[in-house]
Amino acid sequence: MILVTGAGGFVGAHLLKRLTALGLPVRALVRRGTDGGRLRRIAGSLCRSARADTASLKSAMQGVEQVIHLAGIFRESGKESFDAVHQEGTRRLMEAAREAKIRHVVYVSALGAAPDRIYPFVRSKWLGEGEVRKSGVPFTILRPSLLFGAGDHFLTPLSRLLRSSPYAVIPGYEPLRCQPLWVGDLVSCLVKTIESGVGKGETIALAGPAQISYEGVVDLVQEELGARRPKILLPLPLAATLTLLLERVMTAPPLTTGVLDIWRLGAITARDTVQKAYGVTPMPLAEGARYLLSSGGPPSRRGARRERAATPNRSIS
Ligand SMILES: NC(=O)c1ccc[n+]([C@@H]2O[C@H](COP(=O)([O-])OP(=O)(O)OC[C@H]3O[C@@H](n4cnc5c(N)ncnc54)[C@H](OP(=O)(O)O)[C@@H]3O)[C@@H](O)[C@H]2O)c1
Repeated sequence: MILVTGAGGFVGAHLLKRLTALGLPVRALVRRGTDGGRLRRIAGSLCRSARADTASLKSAMQGVEQVIHLAGIFRESGKESFDAVHQEGTRRLMEAAREAKIRHVVYVSALGAAPDRIYPFVRSKWLGEGEVRKSGVPFTILRPSLLFGAGDHFLTPLSRLLRSSPYAVIPGYEPLRCQPLWVGDLVSCLVKTIESGVGKGETIALAGPAQISYEGVVDLVQEELGARRPKILLPLPLAATLTLLLERVMTAPPLTTGVLDIWRLGAITARDTVQKAYGVTPMPLAEGARYLLSSGGPPSRRGARRERAATPNRSIS
């Protein structure tokens, strides 16, 4: 049995569908309040944890051999700080995993995770990694770049904003760079790790085949949407403050502190990391954007093949 934490989120939805399609036994761990009906249909087994304390986590791990730890946040709210969720939450999970004698934990961190106080999101992921490493439980740490795919936290809100706003707002005067990865490719890596132990004991950076600036992504999305919004460059401190403000008042803000941190850090890695570590050829962002944003047009044959492989039951998503 595989336990997936944060199963109700963006990656969780894609991962659960793939694991289930492969016939692997999955238990989704979600919080009280998360809509479980949809997940129960995919995962078969659903476990709710009101308090993520070691005892309730341990009981969720009964009969479990491997854990994929996805739970995380992109914006802080009340007591839910980045450190509380990514470090303290991971510490409790690893404690429970050790007591439950879990065979392998796969932790999804973030590309560029580092002890840099300027970027609280990536710093907290680095602290979370530390908890995994010192737990004594066999582990794999995957560090994906920003992910794109249906329901993502990056292309989807940006395209929503570009559809409704008269301007295209670009954070930073200097180009912010990133190397986005398709969620289906991350899922392929997770499955290979779970099925055959690829990367056990390692920390693996995972990124797409192209490095692109924020402005480059805006251009790509505008092209797909057939939009020509005039661009406004915002100084980074102002963009960060505006992001903080918007995430306090909006349920689905166009940008979150976590996603902006990934952009500001500009973490870049080799273009062939996914191919080298997993033998997977990652989908280029332009192809993914075309597929995601096309107004109902048929996906390219390659895109369709990938989508079938990643989301075999599309009615669920
Ligand atoms: N998406 C990306 O571009 C990206 C890039 C790099 C790394 N990552 C990492 O990949 C993982 C999955 O990302 P995602 O995009 O799927 O995130 P997501 O859509 O925000 O989903 C995260 C999940 O974590 C759960 N969660 C949040 N706080 C929790 C807490 N205190 N205790 C237990 N569960 C909690 C949420 O549960 P509820 O549904 O109940 O709120 C949600 O289901 C995260 O760790 C993220 O940091 C993502």
